Amino acid sequence: MKMKHNDKTNNHLAKAWFSDWANEYDNTLGKLNRHHQLLDLAVRMSGVQDGYHVLDIGCGTGLLSLKFLSQAECRITAVDNSKKMMDVFREKVRKLSLADKVTLRHMDASLLDFKPGTFHVAASTVTLHHLANNKLAAMRRIFRLLKPGGTFVLGDLDVDTSGRHTDVKRLKRILAYLNEELVLALEDGDLDTFKRMYNNGRKHILNEGEYCISAGQWAQLCRKTGFKTVRWQPLPVMKKMFVLAAKK
Ligand SMILES: C[S@@+](CC[C@H](N)C(=O)[O-])C[C@H]1O[C@@H](n2cnc3c(N)ncnc32)[C@H](O)[C@@H]1O
Repeated sequence: MKMKHNDKTNNHLAKAWFSDWANEYDNTLGKLNRHHQLLDLAVRMSGVQDGYHVLDIGCGTGLLSLKFLSQAECRITAVDNSKKMMDVFREKVRKLSLADKVTLRHMDASLLDFKPGTFHVAASTVTLHHLANNKLAAMRRIFRLLKPGGTFVLGDLDVDTSGRHTDVKRLKRILAYLNEELVLALEDGDLDTFKRMYNNGRKHILNEGEYCISAGQWAQLCRKTGFKTVRWQPLPVMKKMFVLAAKK
């Protein structure tokens, strides 16, 4: 599961790419029904309630945070390492007068510099797979930041892209994922959405800022970290995406 990559280079690749994508994100991936299904399921499986403090890791343009806020009278702390993605979210916070409910912090997901036991829920959608070598360390931090009984909820791709780039079995695994993703991108989105996803496909294959592991591997990491109960389910519209909920 461990991948040999330089974390600084990885971070740089993902940052440049999200910086370029920020203004188009909501008009591409953000328009896909399957993405909204993922976010809705993540909110449902988090068990969020009024009064909860939620950490959104890799908040991007705020799509997940806004779903939490529409579901409960909660407070959000949202972190991301792309200033451009956060700028889009900050503008929404301003327009929707949500400044008293949302705190934005420019921070890397591998740092998460908060006091232990701060959050009822820590949530992350399609972000943590960008961490190449430090997924377990990040999970340990997330575990510490949760209150006792708190929930970690993860929405991500169910595909293991680790291994040698010359391994044909690995390539077939990734292509099976991309088959679902690219067909839906065109059916459900438009040509621009398709182009973004098509370019992302190459990044998955060559591990250029994309280092996915399977739902089962994430569940293993959660158990190793100390979470008591871990469950996950595939997305109805796209079986190779999942939402996992782990209870501290
Ligand atoms: C695909 S977007 C997901 C945004 C949002 N969670 C959603 O589901 O729409 C991934 C986000 O993770 C952020 N990101 C990637 N690597 C990160 C890291 N190491 N630390 C913090 N944020 C990161 C990117 O800047 C981007 O905003």
